[in-house]
Amino acid sequence: MEMYLPIKHVHMLTAYITAFLFILRLVLDALGKTGWRQTPLRWLPHVNDTILLLMAVSLIALANLPVFGLPWLVIKIVLLFGYIIAGVFAMNLKRPKQVRVIAAVLALAQLLFIFHLAVAKPMLW
Ligand code: HEM
Repeated sequence: MEMYLPIKHVHMLTAYITAFLFILRLVLDALGKTGWRQTPLRWLPHVNDTILLLMAVSLIALANLPVFGLPWLVIKIVLLFGYIIAGVFAMNLKRPKQVRVIAAVLALAQLLFIFHLAVAKPMLW
């Protein structure tokens, strides 16, 4: 259990890196600099997100958290799927620009909500 806090801090650090790398790629695409797909920026977010999720699962296992008894956690996981789907659309250059912009806004809104739930941990039911 003494590992809980260090793991939570790695989870938090990777969460902030996730947001930074997502926004960075959106900005680069918006500036027409789509070449990041041929740089480490293509795979770096996946490595970071894998660590983020591994740390999340470790936290749940370590603290024996009742996932379905914690509304903020359930909604966080649902929003994570929504964020991933919207993110895939936002990054897909084959999609029309309008679709990508709407998807980017939806992805960012969900990411923001995930951060809010993580910090506020509201008990909704
Ligand atoms: C993009 C996805 C995610 C982001 C941005 C994120 C962000 C965060 C942040 C910022 C915290 C620290 C909150 C605080 O200040 O106390 C946190 C804590 C936590 N997150 Fe996540 N998280 C994400 C995904 C997940 C997922 C998918 C799970 C579960 C499967 C999860 C489980 C947890 C747990 C158990 C804690 C610790 C709560 C505590 O002890 O205070 N997170 N998350």
